[in-house]
Amino acid sequence: MRFDKQTIFVTGGAGFIGSAVIRHLLADTNASVVNIDKLTYAGSLSTLPGAPGNPRYAFEKQCICDGPGLRRLFEKYQPDAVMHLAAESHVDRSIDGPAEFIKTNIVGTFTLLQECLRHWRGLSADKRDRFRLLHVSTDEVFGSLGAEGLFTETTPYAPNSPYSASKASSDHLVRAWRETYELPTVVTNCSNNYGPYQFPEKLIPHMIVRGLAEQSLPVYGDGKQIRDWLYVEDHASALTLVLERGRAGETYNIGGSNERTNLHVVERICDVLDRLVPGTRGPRRNLISFVADRPGHDRRYAIDATKISRELGWRAREDFESGIEKTIHWFCQNRSWWQEIIDHGYDGSRVGLNTTAQV
Ligand code: NAD
Ligand code: DAU
Repeated sequence: MRFDKQTIFVTGGAGFIGSAVIRHLLADTNASVVNIDKLTYAGSLSTLPGAPGNPRYAFEKQCICDGPGLRRLFEKYQPDAVMHLAAESHVDRSIDGPAEFIKTNIVGTFTLLQECLRHWRGLSADKRDRFRLLHVSTDEVFGSLGAEGLFTETTPYAPNSPYSASKASSDHLVRAWRETYELPTVVTNCSNNYGPYQFPEKLIPHMIVRGLAEQSLPVYGDGKQIRDWLYVEDHASALTLVLERGRAGETYNIGGSNERTNLHVVERICDVLDRLVPGTRGPRRNLISFVADRPGHDRRYAIDATKISRELGWRAREDFESGIEKTIHWFCQNRSWWQEIIDHGYDGSRVGLNTTAQV
């Protein structure tokens, strides 16, 4: 069985992708998992309903910027690997409030690297060889594509938002800890994820939740920006494969080859919702409204995932059509999960217009 007798730290395990990784590790491998999460607005243990009763699961409420706190966890659990997903993840929020992004994404990653290094240096030679820190990053570090071309592992970094700049910084730190201290790290850069338990500030759940309430559906700019969509469970399976078989010092791009314009995505959501939950005010496409563009809005992202496919045999199971159906069904059937987020104060207001930036 995969990861037999191994303990894996997952930072950010109460978030959208981290929780999918933990559900996958608990269901499909023998790993013991320690979920390390600060539980920010974006993190909730409700993303892991089946985990608490599992003897292979533990939760530690912990900020990754707190070195002594992390050290205590390394000493307590002696992990064989770390999957690092904890981050501030929303581009619009990074425009209004970049400070938290600098803290968690840069200082937090630095702090984790230092504690990983301390732990790794104390391991036996055999365990040192097998130890991995998998740093989970984004394709946004590469900036924006024109009409042609794909991001590869050698595309130069050109981040455009405070979020992507903070992620790019963290990628560079990870690279430096590998080159300078020989810490066995692997980096992944993935495209846009969607699926169950995504916080409703992100495009797809935002539109589903608003569409169900028959509220206006705000499309930024002309809606012709392109994202390359990947179903979150496919990302989780790619990450576990990279942890298991990825070569230390390498980076792997992950993406589903599912490029869609934002407008296409929103129209598709409208049509599926109309079929599943007919509205009272006619077709939901009528709710689409074009609103002010995001400052510094990247036009197009698209991933070349040849390397992970060739070297590790990974392939996405879902295409956009099957994944969006599953996702919309999930949000319709799990209203209490996102209603709780709204009840706790998330009101879906537009942020990131650079009118209230903290300077
Ligand atoms: P998310 O915002 O849903 O979850 C982030 C989690 O990190 C939350 O549980 C939060 O509580 C936790 N966290 C935040 N600050 C912390 C801190 N200081 N200490 C400990 N925990 C903290 O994010 P996500 O969409 O699941 O993204 C996870 C990772 O994947 C991020 O690193 C992100 O950059 C990367 N990524 C995301 C996407 C995407 O489409 N969502 C695509 C590629 C890469
Ligand atoms: O590419 C990977 C990245 O994808 C991740 O690193 C980020 O963590 C993740 O948030 C995501 O970033 P995006 O900015 O691409 O995702 P978001 O869901 O915020 O927006 C997707 C696109 O939809 C983007 O072009 C902006 C647009 N949009 C978004 C919202 C919330 C709208 O047009 N209307 C909206 O209401």
